[in-house]
Amino acid sequence: MAFYSNYKNVLVDMEDGITTVTLNRPEKRNAMSPELEEEMLDCILNLEGDRDTHVLILTGAGSAWCAGMDLDLFFRELEGNPENAVKHVRAEWAGHQWKWHRLYNFPKPTIAMVNGYCFGGAFTQLVACDFAIAADSAVFGLSEVNWGVIPGGLVSKAMNMAVNYRDALYYSITGKPFKGPEAARMGLINESVPDDKLREEVMNLARHLEALNPEAVRATKQAIKATRDMTVDQSHEYLIAKNGQLAHRDAEGGYSQGISKFIDSKSYRPGFEAYPRDKVNG
Ligand code: ACO
Repeated sequence: MAFYSNYKNVLVDMEDGITTVTLNRPEKRNAMSPELEEEMLDCILNLEGDRDTHVLILTGAGSAWCAGMDLDLFFRELEGNPENAVKHVRAEWAGHQWKWHRLYNFPKPTIAMVNGYCFGGAFTQLVACDFAIAADSAVFGLSEVNWGVIPGGLVSKAMNMAVNYRDALYYSITGKPFKGPEAARMGLINESVPDDKLREEVMNLARHLEALNPEAVRATKQAIKATRDMTVDQSHEYLIAKNGQLAHRDAEGGYSQGISKFIDSKSYRPGFEAYPRDKVNG
């Protein structure tokens, strides 16, 4: 039986190495309930080691990507209720783990496919994904200020990591919503596309990533993320060591093969067509 067959709030679809995970509470705009947090943690943990998953897409069912924390279940039912203290701690821990630690460090590329509303706590998993593509009509909002709370969890940190200081302050403090093109302008997402092109564009990126050397992709992702908080000297040392680790892990021999195809057989030029045969032969 598949690990996800008992989930009630999460759908998993696997096809040709590309796994789509869908938050599935459309009637609540995919707001994150305690049960959803636990299912998502279980799901991401399972997919980390899943050999058939080479690229992960995260999306939402219905009109929303994710409307943030479930205000009713988290803020009213669990918050400050001693009887639910254990459930509260568990749900917050599970949420923190999957939305940031597991997803940010996921060993394979991740793409947020933002099909609709993206509010509050959902910004954590949005930024934790390596790539984000949104529909032009998707509506984003750091609405916490309207509920008398700050962009907590890791939302403030995620905003600081993803966008510039002015935009982080402006949208966090005002709580004003914005759409896909504005999210792309500020670098919160890679691209905003017409609604009817969203799936196609995401799949194009996913297939591109799926075709790359998985160990080189994994190490590159780790290199970019890890060096964000390192000094220049630490980064230099780390990157030398990381390259050594990559060569050791890479069963495909991507390094020697790539160089050989470029120098010896002249059958490959990254980003360009291979050299024409007459140049190779003569
Ligand atoms: N928490 C709990 N329930 C929610 C949430 C949420 N974050 N978002 C939507 N819902 C529920 C609504 O209460 C409603 O439930 P009901 O049918 O039982 O009345 C249902 O989802 C549909 O919501 P509507 O508002 O009717 O849907 P609509 O499509 O018109 O609007 C929108 C969607 C814009 C997302 C709106 O629901 C909204 O503003 N939600 C709150 C978003 C938000 O501010 N989230 C951040 C919370 S702060 C944080 O995450 C830390």
